[in-house]
Amino acid sequence: MKTTIFGTGYVGLVTGACLAQAGNTVTCVDIDQAKIEGLNNGVIPIYEPGLEDLVVDNHKAGRLRFTTSAAEGVAGAAVIFIAVGTPPDEDGAADLGYVLAVARGIGAQLSAPAVVVNKSTVPVGTVEKVRTAIQGVLDERGVQIDFDVVSNPEFLKEGAAVEDCMRPDRIVIGARKPESIATMRKLYGPFNRQQDRIVVMDPPSAELTKYAANAMLATKISFMNEIANIAECVGADIEMVRKGIGSDPRIGYHFIYPGAGYGGSCFPKDVKALVRTAAQAGHEAELLQTVEAVNARQKGKLFQRISDYFDGALAGKTIALWGLAFKPRTDDMREAPSVELLRALWAAGATARAFDPEAMREARRMFGERDDLVLCDSANDALTGADALVLVTEWKAFWSPDFALIRERLSTPVIFDGRNIYDPALVEDCGIQYYGIGRGRSV
Ligand code: UGA
Repeated sequence: MKTTIFGTGYVGLVTGACLAQAGNTVTCVDIDQAKIEGLNNGVIPIYEPGLEDLVVDNHKAGRLRFTTSAAEGVAGAAVIFIAVGTPPDEDGAADLGYVLAVARGIGAQLSAPAVVVNKSTVPVGTVEKVRTAIQGVLDERGVQIDFDVVSNPEFLKEGAAVEDCMRPDRIVIGARKPESIATMRKLYGPFNRQQDRIVVMDPPSAELTKYAANAMLATKISFMNEIANIAECVGADIEMVRKGIGSDPRIGYHFIYPGAGYGGSCFPKDVKALVRTAAQAGHEAELLQTVEAVNARQKGKLFQRISDYFDGALAGKTIALWGLAFKPRTDDMREAPSVELLRALWAAGATARAFDPEAMREARRMFGERDDLVLCDSANDALTGADALVLVTEWKAFWSPDFALIRERLSTPVIFDGRNIYDPALVEDCGIQYYGIGRGRSV
């Protein structure tokens, strides 16, 4: 099927590559000339396991094309995805500027019937807004073309995006017209072989499903961080509590890891946007406001702990940071706990020596050259001349470090484990003080 995707961010690029792999002819359109040139030359703008091979192979095979031309994208496409960004505006609402600009562009170019698919995470009602925007331009042009707008939210996780796209646990389609539903079923057929994972519903329900999923996951994390904070106060170990509650299948073991707070481009933005949508519709989403507030507090936790440990005297101290990305297997640092920690350390006069397996280029891009940030070549290099070590992102490469070397290199052998990946007893046996999240004792 001839398919077009507007937006070559995480969602757009991964979807485009996977649809091409399934045998469709896919055109990816983006306004960023440099990005499109790069993609045409095999330069993948993001780190995502498996994506590079998929893009390069399908591009070579002629099934995946990249262009800045909306006209080229729309011409002959049976399905047109909108997968552009929806950044939060000042009051937390999702900014639909890019989405509606693409919709108008589609209206300007459309010459044959097509199904337009909202893939971006957009507030309830956006299907209708996109429909109105396209129809408005068609009316201006004085042409009558049959088109439909459907919602098809994306549930992929960064770091596992290709896998999630190829083997989705559900494919939500928000559509009313039987022909549109049939087109979407056909497009997703190759990803839906073993078991029918397609859930068809009305567009507003599909739009809300996406926010509800992320809000539920964010709620689980804030809940666990809250319990971790209680555990610290009462002398309990959250890791024991986590195992104790996860064994109840109604709770489950997934997504109940306490830590340095959730980050990334989705949870923080989507929880805020849902609070805003609810408020606009006359409902105060108290639970979600608290989820957000608990997370904001949690993101300050590591710094508070380090500061307390050094009695607030951080000026002149050097802190080694392991991990900068908001989670492992990505180079994404958007809303990462590391960013807040770095800023707080710098404000207190400390220097950071940091290492991340994938996010070094991103860190350089974000912060540039500065005296109080040393971007190191390896995890062990980050320890050189440092006073303390803080584990911020739980990359596999950090799970079994050489504790003897850590003790030797740190002037005050202490580890602040922001993800509870180390065994406190083992660390302390090596002569290093240990502080985790919610593990029985605070500084
Ligand atoms: C999230 C959702 O998991 C995807 O299903 C969704 O499609 C995506 O947002 C999106 O809306 O596009 P992602 O942002 O890639 O995916 O990251 P997650 O793996 O969900 O992690 C989010 C944050 O929660 C990370 O900072 C992670 O460290 C934190 N987290 C996760 C915890 O602190 N504890 C946990 O138990 C799990």
